Amino acid sequence: MNFEISEAHVNTSPARSEPSRRFSVAPMMDWTDRHCRFFLRLLSKHALLYTEMVTTGALLNGDHERFLRHNEAEHPLALQLGGSVPLDLAMCARMAQDHGYDEVNLNVGCPSDRVQNNMIGACLMGHPQLVADCVKAMRDAVSIPVTVKHRIGINGRDSYEELCDFVGTVRDAGCTSFTVHARIAILEGLSPKENRDIPPLRYDVAARLKADFPELEIILNGGIKTLEACHEYLQTFDGVMLGREAYHNPYVMAEVDQQLFGSTAPVISRAEALAQLRPYIAAHIDAGGSMHHITRHVLGLGTGFPGARKFRQLLSVDIHKAKEPLVLLDQAAELLEGR
Ligand SMILES: Cc1cc2nc3c(=O)[nH]c(=O)nc-3n(C[C@H](O)[C@H](O)[C@H](O)COP(=O)(O)O)c2cc1C
Repeated sequence: MNFEISEAHVNTSPARSEPSRRFSVAPMMDWTDRHCRFFLRLLSKHALLYTEMVTTGALLNGDHERFLRHNEAEHPLALQLGGSVPLDLAMCARMAQDHGYDEVNLNVGCPSDRVQNNMIGACLMGHPQLVADCVKAMRDAVSIPVTVKHRIGINGRDSYEELCDFVGTVRDAGCTSFTVHARIAILEGLSPKENRDIPPLRYDVAARLKADFPELEIILNGGIKTLEACHEYLQTFDGVMLGREAYHNPYVMAEVDQQLFGSTAPVISRAEALAQLRPYIAAHIDAGGSMHHITRHVLGLGTGFPGARKFRQLLSVDIHKAKEPLVLLDQAAELLEGR
């Protein structure tokens, strides 16, 4: 597909190198917003962070600055798009590049009904050639990498041959990096949440895919909880992506740089991470924002030590009646001392 994008959109920011996908944090709607990502970045400098999915409709018809806004500290950073109209995706990929994102990713894994009605997400696994057309249009529009996140199948189209047909067709359009949520999506009858738990995880299928497409970068996603597990899967796969565990227990990320990227920097403590977040929170409050917008993503720091419950209570319950939010934050921070 050919299309024109005006020169006014050409990116003038310095080129960044291809991000490493050895360890990434998954795109998660309502969770991995810019505040969450800023916080997670304090725990690991190397993890690749994904935005929440943004639809092409939202970017093209809505307030795109609001959706694309991020802090320079969040890099390496990938924008995830939802859509299936090649020209729209191409324009949005260009927006991502112009706003400095390091990668643009197409969502072919999200099963929600709302999303299916618009031909977005996992239902696209049934339309490999359309996904290939989308990827080609996006690749023609940008120089940053274009990647795909997908399932191992959908109900009615869940054979290994169909999975290979999907990956092979999209590869032929130039995509070289696939993040595989290693379970099928059931498009009718299960909620998005159930679709993240009920269909069984099939790492064996993802591993077979890597064996059959050795030239492709295959990132494993689904159910990974520890860095030990990451080490194990990195024997087979090119990268690992964590979703829920990184959100509910973000401190799991504190040793990612040392264990998976060979960093010799000291491991950050929980207390230090919160101390480094404090000026960001103060600036957000000064700009008229609420502390809760940020600290709701930090609750998971309060797991696994005495006082953890109190920490969570301060930042999830007491926060709503606090007159001086930063005083409350400092109280919560005291509970992290030495942690
Ligand atoms: C709250 C929530 C929102 C999600 N939103 C998205 C999304 O926007 N795009 C996407 O590709 N996957 C989304 N996912 C799926 C995750 O990216 C990931 O594939 C899934 O949670 C499995 O990984 P995990 O077991 O490590 O959590 C979401 C998951 C959760 C829990």
